[in-house]
Amino acid sequence: MGAVSGQVLRVTVTGGAGFIGTHTVRLLLEHGHQVLVVDDLRHACGQAVPEGVPLVAEDMASPAAREAMIDFHPDAIIHFAAQGGVSRSLRDPAADALNNVVGTVAVMRAAVDAGCSRMVFASSGGAIYGRARRLPSRETDRAKPLSPYGAAKLAGEGYLGMFERTFGLSYVALRYGNVYGPYQDGTGEAGMVAITCQRLVAGEPPQITGDGGQTRDFVYVGDVASANLLALTAAYRGPVNIGTGTPTSIRQVAAALAQLDGSTTPPLFVAGRPGEVRSNFLDPSRAARQLGWSAKVSLQEGLELTLNSFQHRG
Ligand SMILES: NC(=O)c1ccc[n+]([C@@H]2O[C@H](COP(=O)([O-])OP(=O)(O)OC[C@H]3O[C@@H](n4cnc5c(N)ncnc54)[C@H](O)[C@@H]3O)[C@@H](O)[C@H]2O)c1
Repeated sequence: MGAVSGQVLRVTVTGGAGFIGTHTVRLLLEHGHQVLVVDDLRHACGQAVPEGVPLVAEDMASPAAREAMIDFHPDAIIHFAAQGGVSRSLRDPAADALNNVVGTVAVMRAAVDAGCSRMVFASSGGAIYGRARRLPSRETDRAKPLSPYGAAKLAGEGYLGMFERTFGLSYVALRYGNVYGPYQDGTGEAGMVAITCQRLVAGEPPQITGDGGQTRDFVYVGDVASANLLALTAAYRGPVNIGTGTPTSIRQVAAALAQLDGSTTPPLFVAGRPGEVRSNFLDPSRAARQLGWSAKVSLQEGLELTLNSFQHRG
């Protein structure tokens, strides 16, 4: 059973210095919860962990992180820490599994030893379903990941089921769509909105892979933070899609951002990624039923907030 809504919770957030973690930690604090962040800062988003929040800057699988989690006695853990790149996972699947599978299992073990009763796991609706036979993807569809990154998320969900059956750790695996918003890394290979904002701010045109007709489920990070919060206290156990239910093409997103920026330079088209899924979007109805969650921020509003934050970065 989840904790009672309205109660002050002690929440450990792994990866709490990253993009989604930063937004979620702030929301947890706004709701009066007590937070411990475990993040070795290998891919921190550049925003300082809020004052008063203890930061354990260690690998999540290390004895020091484990001890800190146990000492904190959390009611719940939100587990974000991961190697986030699909392409990187394809280049080095073993390194990906070491962090994303072995590290995740170490966090679950520490959660049980800390007496924690609830775990919210950052899974991926974009990577877990693979080449879907019907869209939008539902949680009852068979997960057939195409990358080591997606396979690690599925493995994480498998371990969570086992930890629940054997050790009584209840869990929700939130299968996010393509999350975007302020503080996302725009310099890497993933995060199309952040990369486009970064390019526009540098005076470069948006870059589109393939013909740009690929569709994704873009969900604003503030909405994702709300889903994380609701999942802490919901009674539901199992996987839940966190998306808008609406497919949007890469081309549409690039055009909307260019228009907001006032850029008239045509986009740069580069070769598509072989094997890339053409269309992916999620059915969010279980999230509405079980968490009382739905996306509130429209794509236009979310893109505006995101571009604005990139334009005003120091
Ligand atoms: N961004 C998306 O669109 C998206 C979509 C689906 C799922 N997710 C998942 O959500 C989670 C958060 O994603 P994000 O976009 O905020 O990523 P991010 O890279 O910004 O944040 C991850 C954080 O984890 C930390 N970290 C990584 N490995 C660690 C380790 N071994 N020990 C301690 N800290 C470690 C990094 O320093 C970073 O601060 C990840 O699990 C990711 O797979 C993200």
